Amino acid sequence: MTFHLRRLTQNDLPRLRQFWRENWGDEFVVAHGVIYRPEALDGFVAFDGKEWIGGITYHFSGSDCEIISLDSLREGQGLGTLLIEKAIEAARAKGCQRIFLITTNDNLHALGFYQKRGFELAAVHRGAVNESRKIKPGIPLIGENGIPLRDEIELDMKLIN
Ligand SMILES: CC(C)(COP(=O)(O)OP(=O)(O)OC[C@H]1O[C@@H](n2cnc3c(N)ncnc32)[C@H](O)[C@@H]1OP(=O)(O)O)[C@@H](O)C(=O)NCCC(=O)NCCS
Repeated sequence: MTFHLRRLTQNDLPRLRQFWRENWGDEFVVAHGVIYRPEALDGFVAFDGKEWIGGITYHFSGSDCEIISLDSLREGQGLGTLLIEKAIEAARAKGCQRIFLITTNDNLHALGFYQKRGFELAAVHRGAVNESRKIKPGIPLIGENGIPLRDEIELDMKLIN
């Protein structure tokens, strides 16, 4: 592992916006009808030297922590797992009882990845991506694996403090 992590700071916001544009097509994320912008989020960024190679952002709401984005540009080296662990650690430190996230019906890799790391299927929000597309028209009709992109899948993990 040649990468290292540090907490996201205000100084990182321009770079995070660019990172999201490059990896998700825009400067904001839409989940369950809510627009999330980098300035409202906590998180960690991962570096290899000066280069950004990944990051995780999350948001606290009551006793919940919601993961808003997770990206690893060095797949299969443990970076995604490390970022998830950092978010769980932050949620516990904040006293959260649950950590959850939304992924989409086409992202078979993410569905496997999260379940192998202790997350469980919590809900299927049928057609929710079709609604998000009204806010963010760049969301493609066909997603990963050639699958029509239309539903949000919520996964969560209960946290025992
Ligand atoms: C999902 C994602 C974050 C995973 O990141 P990652 O850095 O590949 O994650 P890891 O390396 O920790 O784990 C991936 C696999 O590599 C394996 N792995 C971990 N460390 C390894 C190592 N040192 N050597 C070889 N393999 C390793 C893990 O066992 C894991 O396999 P498994 O899921 O079958 O157990 C990444 O694929 C990604 O950014 N995807 C695109 C964006 C996305 O879909 N984000 C989630 C949307 S909600």
